[in-house]
Amino acid sequence: MRYSLEAGGKRLRPVLCLASAAAFTPRADASHAATALECIHTYSLIHDDLPCMDDSDLRRGRPSCHKSFDEATALLAGDALQPLAFELLATGYAAQPTLATALVRELAMAAGSQLLVGGQTEDIDGQENDADRIEFILRGKTAALLSASFAMGAMVGGASAADVEYFRLAGRASGIAFQLVDDLLDLTADAAELGKPVGADAESGKSTYVSMHGVSATKQRIEALTIETVGHLRATKGDTAFLVELVRRISARRT
Ligand code: IPE
Ligand code: IPE
Ligand code: MG
Ligand code: MG
Ligand code: MG
Repeated sequence: MRYSLEAGGKRLRPVLCLASAAAFTPRADASHAATALECIHTYSLIHDDLPCMDDSDLRRGRPSCHKSFDEATALLAGDALQPLAFELLATGYAAQPTLATALVRELAMAAGSQLLVGGQTEDIDGQENDADRIEFILRGKTAALLSASFAMGAMVGGASAADVEYFRLAGRASGIAFQLVDDLLDLTADAAELGKPVGADAESGKSTYVSMHGVSATKQRIEALTIETVGHLRATKGDTAFLVELVRRISARRT
């Protein structure tokens, strides 16, 4: 668990959560929610790399968890990171039970069978080109956790229900853009810089938005999603200047 968590990574989900809380007037310390999000994300990467999933040997610039240890250890490390996330929420927000319940629900739904796990399930069998299926995968495997990062941050920030919903929508659009960039980087980036293998999607015959629509249409969609994200953020009462800058950089990221 420590090996994979402490390997680094961009910490994007925690940063989005902290920045979303800071956009309002936080009622509690957002770092518990931020850490819970990173636990779920890191578990999903450990399991995603297993031989039965993407079979990937490199993660965050180091051998994947199952390469450094073994498959059983990697499976169990991922298993244990999941309840740890909910323990952090239940303990960290014990003094505010309504907030704690809302955070647990948001994260559980994002990580569950309809979203993260559902998206991963369709993705591992992703050989056919089907536009609806690709949308389901993008929304589930990646956008759900980014959406939860924005929404959970806004909740800790004490945002109104309407503003939390705008943050959820912003996270969904930005999360789809984030995965489209990931798919582009799989085609164009350098493994050493990226900290994970490149060319993996093509090698495994996975159909992605990019393989279906091409590079230039994918770049246009990323741009449109970024504009949509900024629109949702600006519709709120929050101070979203930092978040707007961050989502623009997400779309232009190279690692
Ligand atoms: C990788 O996520 C998996 C995807 C959803 C594309 P990140 O690119 O955020 O991975 P880390 O946290 O920086 O390692
Ligand atoms: C990963 O998608 C999504 C989750 C781990 C939930 P990918 O399989 O495209 O991510 P990378 O490219 O291995 O980081
Ligand atoms: Mg995968
Ligand atoms: Mg993968
Ligand atoms: Mg990828």
